[in-house]
Amino acid sequence: MARAIAAMAPAGVRTGCRLIREGDEAYLLPAEAGSIPARQPAMRRASGAARLLAHRLLADAGFDGFALLRTASGAPAWPDGITGSLAHDDDMAVAAVAPVGQIVSLGIDVEPALPLPDEISALVAMPADRTGTADRQLAGRILFAAKEAVYKAAYPLDRQVLGYEDIAVNLETGHATTSTGREVSLIYCVAPRVVVLAFVDDDGV
Ligand SMILES: CC(C)(COP(=O)(O)OP(=O)(O)OC[C@H]1O[C@@H](n2cnc3c(N)ncnc32)[C@H](O)[C@@H]1OP(=O)(O)O)[C@@H](O)C(=O)NCCC(=O)NCCS
Repeated sequence: MARAIAAMAPAGVRTGCRLIREGDEAYLLPAEAGSIPARQPAMRRASGAARLLAHRLLADAGFDGFALLRTASGAPAWPDGITGSLAHDDDMAVAAVAPVGQIVSLGIDVEPALPLPDEISALVAMPADRTGTADRQLAGRILFAAKEAVYKAAYPLDRQVLGYEDIAVNLETGHATTSTGREVSLIYCVAPRVVVLAFVDDDGV
């Protein structure tokens, strides 16, 4: 899966993935642990796994030992000049990091490769969405992950909370538009989990 994510990532974007393991909460640096409100152990474990990935990616980018604090909005506070995103499902954590340049903001999501329950699909899918040739069984799940990834890319730029109805996704063209006018590119893979990477490039700002 790490290879599949790296292969789809645009130039300059570093990615990582990790199966979440017992004890991964120990990878939270003390300041990070303090920034994450007390939550269930499984959530802290997932956040620890994602931060372990982020620490490695940030060290490669010259930010060794950087504490990736959670801000009040939930968005992580990346170092100046860096954009990135984290996600986790029950089993897997993923992270993506890039220097701010051609790409100005990133969002990522990971989901199990399972059909999205109908009642959730009804909330997520909107008439403007296009799933194109995406696997019929998984189209709803990919759309869901796409909207979450787009939201994570858009939020740090616009500081606007968006709902599913605020994001129109076209999986065929790899493009999404938000109700705030933000244009976001996206790519996805299903190998063996659904991972969507969304990014705003400097033409979209
Ligand atoms: C951002 C959000 C969509 C994440 O969804 P999730 O299923 O809970 O969790 P994921 O594993 O996909 O992602 C979690 C990570 O997203 C990141 N994140 C949280 N809020 C974020 C925000 N506002 N902007 C960017 N990234 C954010 C964090 O890094 C978090 O990981 P951490 O808690 O370990 O630091 C959700 O927390 C949220 O804020 N929802 C409100 C708006 C919404 O749901 N709209 C409908 C979807 S468009």
